[in-house]
Amino acid sequence: MKINSSLFNIPIINSVIEYDCTDSTNERAKAAAKRGSVHGTLFVAHRQISGKGRLGRTFDSEKDQGLYFSLLLRPRVNPEHLSNITLLAAVAITRALKRTCQVNPLIKWPNDILLNHKKLAGILTEAGNDYVIIGIGLNTRKKCFSPDLADTATSLFLEKSSPLDDFSLLYNILQDFSSLFEEFVTMPDFGFLSEEYNQSLVSLNNWVYLIPHEMSCNISNPYEINTCNLTPFFCKGIDKNGFLLCEDSEHKILTVNSGEVSLRNKRANS
Ligand code: BTN
Repeated sequence: MKINSSLFNIPIINSVIEYDCTDSTNERAKAAAKRGSVHGTLFVAHRQISGKGRLGRTFDSEKDQGLYFSLLLRPRVNPEHLSNITLLAAVAITRALKRTCQVNPLIKWPNDILLNHKKLAGILTEAGNDYVIIGIGLNTRKKCFSPDLADTATSLFLEKSSPLDDFSLLYNILQDFSSLFEEFVTMPDFGFLSEEYNQSLVSLNNWVYLIPHEMSCNISNPYEINTCNLTPFFCKGIDKNGFLLCEDSEHKILTVNSGEVSLRNKRANS
């Protein structure tokens, strides 16, 4: 992928740092944030040797097989609204995929993008005192996955036969994120986007399990988790504050934040 200066036409982009190979663009962005780098600095790599996922997982980042990038933000919003930035990124990715690749992705709350029921992209949000890093990994050209991911992960190459312009996809994700972020800073609750988010939410109106993070750590395939002792909830979608609303069998509503749990759809026979 050739990265060009048209990225500077995107209002949120103030600086671009490109790596042929690095450890993790999130790590580079974090280090730069601590040195005082500006809001809107983009770190993009062709390859990562220690690509990180959520909950201590790794993110395979072989050379030019995916988009691997992180955006450093210094949002001037109340800290209680910061977790909504992950939700904005998820909507930006789905919008850009629809427009650029004519596919119909879904969001697995809070940070995965699925295509044909398999994971295509992930978002890793990390925050410090005065910064937020949004890291995005999206499998574009990857042709095969390790055995533990083969059933649950995919790439645009595997799902689509037509040629792909990686740079256009990167550009459009950042462009969509930029306009959503502009709206968000003026009204930082999630009311302006909850309807669009819920339309793409894979678990909406489904029974789900809420998986505590301790149970998910270091497990690459969520279906390996034993759900016998967990209570099923009916997923009612995101509310205007960006919280996920889950209803139990006695119609009691539980409000959950992405920092607390992950979600797994209940299978018909589980
Ligand atoms: C997940 O699936 O749990 C999140 C994956 C996030 C991967 C991206 S790739 C760019 C950025 N740098 C990293 O080390 N991770 C994120």
